[in-house]
Parts: sequence; structure tokens; C-alpha cells
Amino acid sequence: MLEKIGPELRQYLVANNREELPFNRIERGWIYASAKKENNYEGFGTDRDIYAHQHIFINNAMIPYKIEEDHPNTLDKSFIPCAKVMGAYNKRKRPYRPASIINVSAMSFGSLSAKAIESLNKGVKKANAYHNTGEGGLSPYHSYGGDVVFHFGTGYFGVRNDDGSFSMEKLVKLVQANPFIRAVEIKLSQGAKPGKGGVLPGSKITKEIANIRGVKVGKDVLSPPNHSAFSNVTEMVDFIEAIADATGLPVGIKAAIGKLEQWEELANIMKTTNKGPDFITVDGGEGGTGAAPPSFADHVSLPWVYGFSDLYKLFKNKDLTERIVFIGSGKLGFPAKAAMAFAMGADCINVAREAMMSIGCIQAQICHTNRCPSGVATQSKWLQNGIDPTLKSERLAQYFKTFRKELTEITHSAGYEHPCQFKMRDIEINVDDHNLSKELARTYMYNKTPVPFTSMKDLKECVYLGGDYNKPNP
Ligand SMILES: Cc1cc2nc3c(=O)[nH]c(=O)nc-3n(C[C@H](O)[C@H](O)[C@H](O)COP(=O)(O)O)c2cc1C
Repeated sequence: MLEKIGPELRQYLVANNREELPFNRIERGWIYASAKKENNYEGFGTDRDIYAHQHIFINNAMIPYKIEEDHPNTLDKSFIPCAKVMGAYNKRKRPYRPASIINVSAMSFGSLSAKAIESLNKGVKKANAYHNTGEGGLSPYHSYGGDVVFHFGTGYFGVRNDDGSFSMEKLVKLVQANPFIRAVEIKLSQGAKPGKGGVLPGSKITKEIANIRGVKVGKDVLSPPNHSAFSNVTEMVDFIEAIADATGLPVGIKAAIGKLEQWEELANIMKTTNKGPDFITVDGGEGGTGAAPPSFADHVSLPWVYGFSDLYKLFKNKDLTERIVFIGSGKLGFPAKAAMAFAMGADCINVAREAMMSIGCIQAQICHTNRCPSGVATQSKWLQNGIDPTLKSERLAQYFKTFRKELTEITHSAGYEHPCQFKMRDIEINVDDHNLSKELARTYMYNKTPVPFTSMKDLKECVYLGGDYNKPNP
């Protein structure tokens, strides 16, 4: 019995503020308070050991960036759109500038409850962010009007033929019928279980899930480790181009990083053919999942900083970074960590578990059992009763707004207008002594390509800006 209730006893009574993983009490508390617009400050100074190994320092400017009266951030302190436009370089028909640099990462209806998905979708609409569908297809709960990135993996849920193969016809129909889909993401892998297929047990396949995913009620469905639509890097690029041509949307890939040979091949193909993904989402090995074997979650693929730095360097060495929007995910939903990610070359952040926490997840870590006590990661109607999407969507939106406001303030403190201006030398990582603490550039051995940023005003006037900013008033 003690073994069973041990985690709860430790979480609430024994563990200190900075001890727990994946997210410690201070991190969770910051998300909860930000989402509720409560006081998220701490008094008396930091309780962190700032001399600890791997601690991040952001170098502030002597005189911070000053915002003038007519600056977009004077009116809206949380306005930070992406500084790059997805699909601009490849001249897609419908390029997209995400109107928020923080967005909801891939999580399916099926792994999350209907009420949770509805709260996230209504929340991104309020925060002018986007909502990534996850692998489980586009559900009615993704369709409350927030920008959507349609994501699919090897199961091609929602866009598959009866034999499980990919259907371009279904994807085109889906995109045409749902103009709020602004981009398509092909999942190659995710940090928690790269290269691992999965089985969706028949017992979990209700009529509703079967309809959305295009599978049969009550019958086990296999998500194989490999895609059947392509089998090598050249074919993958052709597949990306075919989707972009047929839908007009920017197309990206999501992956956790390990070996680099095939990425090198991709970069070479992009260089020679002038084709390729419009965005790349790099997921860290510390990333979350609805369910994964610990051997995978703990050991397969690199943590975000190592994976991202390896990948960015590779694309930078081939002069390709400017045409790709880099998205980072893996516990990056905290302003200082995001500043570091931007300094390393990320253009946007995706958050999954942080978004779950903002709508009530208590990190019970039992997403795989269907018994999530907060109603976020379960299909039990009874457990979902605790979620009021009107309230929870406010919470998600408020978390995003607070996050963006704090990131903007950190950016100004470093003397910049937009976080895309962070450079590797602006952030240091502690390796135990200031003489040894290294700027990111020396730690990861590259400098990021400057993002061609003009001003926040220009971003605000951009015709490709997502969210509701440039939509005519109804
Ligand atoms: C409940 C849950 C479901 C997820 N489902 C997917 C998925 O369908 N496809 C995918 O690529 N990643 C999926 N992920 C991974 C997240 O999108 C994200 O990449 C990862 O959790 C890192 O972000 P985080 O640290 O902010 O949680 C899922 C994560 C969680 C927690």
C-alpha cells in the first residue's frame, strides 16, 4: 500500500521545491499561478543554487531596450509573433506566420480528453497561438477556430485509406473543409519514444474515435515504426513537396535527434534541389508522451540542447537556416529556457505538458492508465466532468500571455526588441566557475544565423500573420 501511495506522499509532503521530475514544484507553481493570473513572483530572491552545473545566465544590457509609445508592446505586452514566415522561402500558396512564439504541441484526441482538447483549442484562439492536433486526426474539439497545425504519424489517422496507407485525397479535402488548418507536420519521431511504433487497443476505440481516425470500432490499430508513404530521405522530400503542392500549406517534419547522417543527406538534398521542409520541430529526449516504455523515454535520443545544437549547426554549415522555421519542444515552456532556445536558433516553442498543467494537470504521471484524476488525459466521461472548457481555455490563454510578457521583459532587459535577436553570446551556461562558464557559442560551437528581423510593427502588419490580429471584425 505504501508503494502505491508513496508518489503522492512524496509529491505533497516530502519532496523539496526543486526536487521532482519532470517538473518540480516551483515550475508547476509558476505555470499554475501564471495561468490563473495570480501573483507568480517569489520573494526574498532566488532559492536556486545559481552556481550549480548547467545553470543558465542571461546577460542583461547596461541599458534595457526602451519601448516607445506607439510600439506594439505598449498596447499589448504579450505580443510576440514568430519572426519568420513558414513557407515563405518555398513560395507555398498559403504561407503562415505564427502569431505567437509559444504554441500547443502535438497531443491527440484519444490521449487527451475531449474537454481538454476543447479547452486547448479555445485557449489558443484567445491567445492567438496555434494548436497542433497530434497523431489522432482532426476532431470536432480541435475546431473552435484557433489556428491548427495538422499533424500525422505512421498511422495516418484521419487521412488514411482502409489499408492504413496515406490518402492525399483525404488530406486535401480536410484542409479545404477546415481553413483554420495553417500548416501540416509529418511526425518522424518524438523524444519520448523515437522509432517506436504503437498499438491503439481496440477497447479504446469508441465510435467517435473510429470516425475521426478512420479506423474500425473495437479493433486493434497498429502505428508502425516506419512510414509507408516514403522509405528514404529523397522520397520524404518528394512527399513533403507533394503535400505542399496539393494543399498549398507549409509542410514541416517533427523529430527527436540522434544520429546525423540522414539529416546531412536531407540538408544536401535541400541544397541541390532547393526543396524541402518549411519547418523542423526538434523534440528533446526529455519530451513527454501519453505512454512509452521507460527504456525508450529514459535513454533513446538526445536531450533538447544537444540534439538541437547538433542539428542547427549542420543546417547552418550548409547555409540553410534562413529558409527553415525551427521549433523547439522539450520542457521549454519557461521564459528563461525559451530565451536560451531562441539564442540557439529556435524561432518558436511548442509546449505539451506545460499546456496540460495550465488546464489542470497535476503531474499524476498516469496518462497511460485512463485514470487521470484531473480529467485531462482520460476518456472517462466522469473524470472529465471536472473540466470547464470556458474557464480552462482562459487559463491556457493566460499562461501563454504571461509567458510571452515575461519573455518580452527578459528580451528588453538584454537590450533587444524581439527574442529572435538573442545571440549565443547573450547566454552562458555554468560549468562551475565563471572562468569556466561558457557562452553558448563556445559550449555548442556555432553561432546562430541572424534572423532578418525589422520591427514588431512590421510583424504586426504582415499579411501572413496568424491568430485573429488581421482578421476583419465580425
Ligand atoms: C499526453 C501526450 C501526448 C502526446 N502525443 C504526441 C503525438 O501524438 N505526436 C507527437 O509527435 N508528440 C506527442 N507528444 C509529445 C509532445 O508533443 C512534445 O513533443 C513533448 O511532450 C515535449 O514537450 P513538453 O516538454 O512541453 O511536454 C505527446 C505528449 C504528451 C504529454
